[in-house]
Amino acid sequence: MATKTIDDIDLKGKKAVIRVDFNVPLKDGEVTDNTRILGALPTIRKVIDEGGTAVLLSHLGRPKGEANPKFSLEPVAKALSKELGQPVIFIPESRGEAAEKAVAALSSGSVALLENVRFHAGEEKNDSDVAQDFAKLGDLYINDAFGTAHRAHASTAGIASCLKPAVAGYLIQKELEFLGEKTESAESPFVVILGGAKVSDKITVIDRLLDKADTILIGGAMAYTFALAQGQTVGDSLAEPDKVDTAKAALEKAKERGVNFLLPIDNVTVDSLDFGNLSVGNIGSSDENGNIPDGWEGVDIGPQTVELYKAEIAKAKTILMNGPMGIFEIDACNKGTFAIAEAVAANKNALSIIGGGDSVKAVKQAGYGEQVSFISTGGGASLEFLEGKTLPGVAALDQK
Ligand code: 3PG
Repeated sequence: MATKTIDDIDLKGKKAVIRVDFNVPLKDGEVTDNTRILGALPTIRKVIDEGGTAVLLSHLGRPKGEANPKFSLEPVAKALSKELGQPVIFIPESRGEAAEKAVAALSSGSVALLENVRFHAGEEKNDSDVAQDFAKLGDLYINDAFGTAHRAHASTAGIASCLKPAVAGYLIQKELEFLGEKTESAESPFVVILGGAKVSDKITVIDRLLDKADTILIGGAMAYTFALAQGQTVGDSLAEPDKVDTAKAALEKAKERGVNFLLPIDNVTVDSLDFGNLSVGNIGSSDENGNIPDGWEGVDIGPQTVELYKAEIAKAKTILMNGPMGIFEIDACNKGTFAIAEAVAANKNALSIIGGGDSVKAVKQAGYGEQVSFISTGGGASLEFLEGKTLPGVAALDQK
């Protein structure tokens, strides 16, 4: 069965409650990354172009069920208005009489953003009263908040059973297409680049992708747990000794499946690190056998690994990247991640998908955000989807 979409419904003269994910970074009242705002524009435009009214609901941060001006969406309304090229009315409430009155006064073709849904404790509890109040704000429901689709909340899941039709917007459709269909039926060679801190965070994804990928390239701190599994020393690196058996099982499965499972052959190391100040002490490297001595910790893949991984990436027809290769936030530790991002962007014969969260930040910071096929707007949602989990915000929508 397929999920019903915005293209399956009539929007003319209708007030569409659209759940978007405007959980965007703010600094001094300004949005510092507008990717999620840009991602929501096609759905908003479709609604107003068809003669409907866009009533936008979103969360911002984690205000713990209480109104808190620090988490107000008002600055986001301004940023949206700029991108959309028309005024966006900010309504300082998301439920209740005042919100309903303000929404009733909207004319067709207008766009309104309501205050943070997480100012109400019932939102995250998927409370049915809260869901019903949100449902009173319009004639139909569109979920386009891919980044929050892994949460079963009142505005992402509960509302879909009280406001019909309940359909997917264009951003959700696009995310499901790239992270789902295009990786399910990936053109070979399918190269998966996986990084991040912990094997335990990524093992379900690794396991699932071992059934689909031709090559898996491992980086980030989780590589040190794999290094332990291979009998190497990792010094003071961030590793999970209790996950060595899990790493061994993944290596075994890769062998059985004939997957080219590559681990770093060298690492950049430091003898001290201060993440708060983004600084490191002395810089070194692992020895010729890939061992890291005590007193040193791995912080990035080394130059030989970069060359090895680049050669695999250049041969790929499909690339999925999830997770950085090192602590890219610190200049001394970003060479590996940035070189891999460059290699992904340079392969114009491949469909390249950046799977959310830190890897998106890294690819953009390296300057290759415009040169890949698709960048996911989801962090946790992308990971859960790649793990094969059902996303409650999608499952709650109508089926065709
Ligand atoms: C995100 O940024 O990952 C989403 O907006 C979800 O936010 P949450 O983790 O606070 O639910």
